Amino acid sequence: MTNRPLRIAPSILSADFARLGDEVAAIVAAGADYIHVDVMDGHFVPNISFGAPVMQAVRGVTDKIFDVHLMIAPVDPYLAAFAAGGADIITVHAEAGPHLHRSLQAIRALGKRAGVALNPATPVSAIEHVIDDVDLVLIMSVNPGFGGQSFIPESLAKLRQARALIGNRDIDLEVDGGIAPETARAVVEAGANVLVAGSAIYGGNDPASYAGRIKAIRDAATGLVA
Ligand code: DX5
Ligand code: ZN
Repeated sequence: MTNRPLRIAPSILSADFARLGDEVAAIVAAGADYIHVDVMDGHFVPNISFGAPVMQAVRGVTDKIFDVHLMIAPVDPYLAAFAAGGADIITVHAEAGPHLHRSLQAIRALGKRAGVALNPATPVSAIEHVIDDVDLVLIMSVNPGFGGQSFIPESLAKLRQARALIGNRDIDLEVDGGIAPETARAVVEAGANVLVAGSAIYGGNDPASYAGRIKAIRDAATGLVA
C-alpha cells in the first residue's frame, strides 16, 4: 500500500477512434484522473495505434494530465513531438533502446515528467540505477500491444519490488494491463497508485457506462467493495 493519491487512467486505446474527442471528453466527465495515451509502432510491439498528431488533436478537449505510454523503438527521435503535442508524462520502455538514461534526461529537458515502463519479463533491477531520474514507474501486467488481455499475476510481486525500490521518493507507481474491479484491490495492496484501464472502462463504448465503470474500479481499489 502507499499513501500516494489513487489515480484512475483510462486508456484511449479502447475508445471509439471515430469519435475520439468526444470519447476523451466523456471519460473526463465520468471522473478520469489521467488520460492514458497508448502509442504503438508495429515494431516494438505487434500493433500500430496512433502518433503525436492524433494525440495533439484531442489535447484541447481537457486540461487533465496526458499520460503518454510510448511503445515505440527508437523512441528518442519522437520525444520532442509528443512534448510539443501536449504530453504531461512521457513514459518510455526500458527495453526500447540501449540508452534509457539518455531518454529519461531528454524527457526532463523537454520540461515533462519522465516515466519508465517494464515489460513482464524485465526485472525491476533494470531501473535501479535510473530511479532518481524518473517521476513514474510503469509495471506492465500484460505484454504490451493490445487491450483486453488477462492480468499476469506475477505482476504483483514486481509491483511490491518496485514500491520498495521507490521508497519515499516522489514517484508514481503505475500498473497497466488487465485492470478491472477484480484486480484493482490487489495491485493497490501491492503498491500501485495509478491504475490504467482500457477495456474495463471503454468496453462497449457507451458513454453512459463510463462513470459507473470508473467508480467500480475506484471503489474496489480503495476497499469500499470486496
Ligand atoms: C497495452 C496498453 C494498455 C492497454 C490496456 O499494450 O499499454 O494501456 O490499453 O488495456 P486493458 O485495460 O484492456 O488491458
Ligand atoms: Zn499503456
